[in-house]
Amino acid sequence: MTKQTVTLIKGDGIGPEISIAVQQIFAAAETPVLWEEAEAGLNCIERYGNGLPQETLDSIVRNGAALKAPTTTPIGGGHKSINVTIRKSLDLFANVRPSKSLPGISTRFDNVDLIIVRENVEDTYGGIEHQQTPDVAQCLRLITRPGSLNAARYAFEMARVAGRRKVTCVHKANIQKMTDGLFLRSFREVAVEYPDIEASDILIDNLCMQLVSRPEQFDVLLLPNLFGDIVSDLCAGLVGGLGVAPGGNIGRNAAVFEAVHGSAPDIAGKGLANPTAFLLSGIQMLSYLGLNSYALRIQYALEKTLKAGIKTRDLGGNSSTQQFTEAVIKNMPHLPQALEASQDVEKPARIIIPVPESHFRNAEWEIVGIDVFTRSDNGLPELPEKIGKFRLTTLSNRGTKVYPGPKPDILMVDCYTSRWIADTAVEHNDIANFLREFPAAYPWTHIEVLYREGDTPMYSKMQGE
Ligand code: NAI
Repeated sequence: MTKQTVTLIKGDGIGPEISIAVQQIFAAAETPVLWEEAEAGLNCIERYGNGLPQETLDSIVRNGAALKAPTTTPIGGGHKSINVTIRKSLDLFANVRPSKSLPGISTRFDNVDLIIVRENVEDTYGGIEHQQTPDVAQCLRLITRPGSLNAARYAFEMARVAGRRKVTCVHKANIQKMTDGLFLRSFREVAVEYPDIEASDILIDNLCMQLVSRPEQFDVLLLPNLFGDIVSDLCAGLVGGLGVAPGGNIGRNAAVFEAVHGSAPDIAGKGLANPTAFLLSGIQMLSYLGLNSYALRIQYALEKTLKAGIKTRDLGGNSSTQQFTEAVIKNMPHLPQALEASQDVEKPARIIIPVPESHFRNAEWEIVGIDVFTRSDNGLPELPEKIGKFRLTTLSNRGTKVYPGPKPDILMVDCYTSRWIADTAVEHNDIANFLREFPAAYPWTHIEVLYREGDTPMYSKMQGE
């Protein structure tokens, strides 16, 4: 059989230890995979000035698939997360994280079998953040229709291929009406094309409660990026923790498979790391490459090992990384034995979804107003009732209306949002004129143009409006 070349990034922290374990297990299973090693992580920073050299990205693009061990991200400064950079650079739009109860691992539930599909590029992970004033930081949460359609279509296609029956969209569209509203509408738009798969939706807060009480009711979960990040760790907890949670980042031209856990600096180099999550990510990669029989073979060996009670310390066992790896290798079945264990060897592997059509409807959008975020160091800004064609309607602080009407008894910060509505037709040029006339005593930090399409406002009402 011709070998397929894949990129292997050994990362840092426990990355190198669990990478060696996976390489040894793949070799024992005679997996037709050739590793092309590429670097990323802390050890690259000195040499390349960043944690992700271009050579590494090139290698992933060339091979179309990579297995990536964790890399450390400095908190609150330093370089950007390498994972986020890889996902964005290669447009790996869907993050697929299976959560399945494993034999031999005792948890509160033994019947969890769900797959999380997380939109992987957008949301707050755009990293569009600004310090507006010394007291106020903002993060722009961008959700797009094409991005949401990509993730939704992937979830339904994957559900079909994997023989799943239901896709549940998770959101908070009752509060984030614009962003999560768009995510939910995109999901519904795609869902009608898959009448064979049940489509439902649930609020994120309810989902969390349901997951920790009756997780078996869920099948495939589709979430925007940040919710997906958090809920997938919750689901990892349901089946035994980070040590057993795998994942794959899937795009149109490449896929990168990685464990959910990080570089675990607290146990790095001590021989304590559990290679299971990384191995399961490798198994997910083998299915993606169409090497299902090898995926099954390794899964069989892994489950036999866990069933026999051979576990690393994080799962309550006392095996070292190497002892656990050797046990998996010892339990490696002959190929036919593994094949008998499952019926679904011939599952198609790679799922290619079309690029969503773009949609230029906003030609019919009309400007109706403008939101202006201003700094004020002396309390409520004294703004004129009218500037140019725009009339001041509301002032808010920390999202709470403070004008007109009684001043609420809330803690105020030094950044106010003023909403200005035009009574007559306006154009972009009117906004430029408006800003020139805006009182210099209240420097503006950010503006948002307000549109409507027909009678529908393309912005959310301010609290109290
Ligand atoms: P972490 O996942 O590295 O560790 C959390 C806890 O779980 C630690 O106590 C650790 O010892 C344990 N743990 C994690 N994986 C384990 C394994 N395979 N076997 C046994 N125990 C394991 O999360 P933490 O500490 O928040 O992050 C450490 C670094 O990793 C940070 O720089 C973070 O940014 C980075 N990170 C990288 C990821 C990636 O490259 N995919 C993902 C998540 C975090």
